[in-house]
Amino acid sequence: MTEAVVDVHLPDDHAARSLAADVLTGLTATPKSLPPKWFYDARGSELFEQITRLPEYYPTRAEREILATRAREIAGETGAHTLVELGSGSSEKTRLLLDSLHETLSQIVVLDVSETALREASAALSAEYPKAQVNGVVGDFTEHLDLLPGEPARLVAFLGGTIGNLLPVERARFLASVRAVLKPGEWLLLGTDLVKDEATVVAAYDDSAGVTAEFNRNVLHVLNRELDADFDVDAFEHVALWDAENEWIEMRLRSTRDQRVRIAALDLDVSFAAGEEMRTEISAKFRRERVAEELSTAGFVLTNWWTDAEGRFALSLAKAE
Ligand code: SAH
Ligand code: TRP
Repeated sequence: MTEAVVDVHLPDDHAARSLAADVLTGLTATPKSLPPKWFYDARGSELFEQITRLPEYYPTRAEREILATRAREIAGETGAHTLVELGSGSSEKTRLLLDSLHETLSQIVVLDVSETALREASAALSAEYPKAQVNGVVGDFTEHLDLLPGEPARLVAFLGGTIGNLLPVERARFLASVRAVLKPGEWLLLGTDLVKDEATVVAAYDDSAGVTAEFNRNVLHVLNRELDADFDVDAFEHVALWDAENEWIEMRLRSTRDQRVRIAALDLDVSFAAGEEMRTEISAKFRRERVAEELSTAGFVLTNWWTDAEGRFALSLAKAE
């Protein structure tokens, strides 16, 4: 059996440098915010896996249902030799695609910023799909797409609704950069959560067991460890708010009291007033017209749009023009 090859495309001090810059920008702005990709240390990736199994968190189950129903069509239409998965995490649902692609597939490339999740997933995929070359890439999908290995025809999968975690301008830049590394005729498979009633969405991001709250607060543990900060994690509470105008759910951390936090690595002291909130993440919800339009602007044509039976989540198959 061929072993998985794992390349780290982040310099050793990437976390430290890039995190420091992000945190300095976010915590000195008004209102304060923190950038989302820092949720996913080993503990964060594990908490996210727990989220995917929560009764309130429907996106994973809905997307799995679509993949189970449509994987053969996707394989037939794309005939992909290389499957490239961005923000792959555990690649759990991806196996449904891989099982259908066995006739044409020779290479699997998985990219994630979380090194622990990536190493585990690459090793497991390489054991389960011994005929395919597995490449793991530790990297940032907003920066490192040009370094991706893989021969045509490629199918790039971006699942889990992760595209909704990017702001609209970042989303446009991201889709354009995916298009830029593809040749005409290659493919993008994009998972997007859909606009629906507010109660269902809010419950998915504020579960009764408190796992999402712990996931959200985990970013403060990351700052304490990586930047020598002294956040009292228990003095921040999880907030999930539906923004009807932007059609996104906004995750925030609310300071439960007046407090001052020292971030030693930045030589920075930050004050929080009681009740002050900082944004940690957005998760945008989509409608078909918007997805089609954003794909088209980036140079893709939407060839298939599939939803789960309840119409909660969509999978788009798009071809590079
Ligand atoms: N695709 C999986 C996981 C989704 S969670 C699923 O559908 O269940 C989002 C994943 O994206 C996490 O594994 C996280 O580590 C990764 N991620 C978040 N921001 C990233 C970035 N900027 N670059 C690369 N990976 C990122
Ligand atoms: N991509 C996931 C989503 O938008 C990430 C996610 C799920 C998330 N729950 C969260 C991010 C809570 C921050 C906080 O559904």
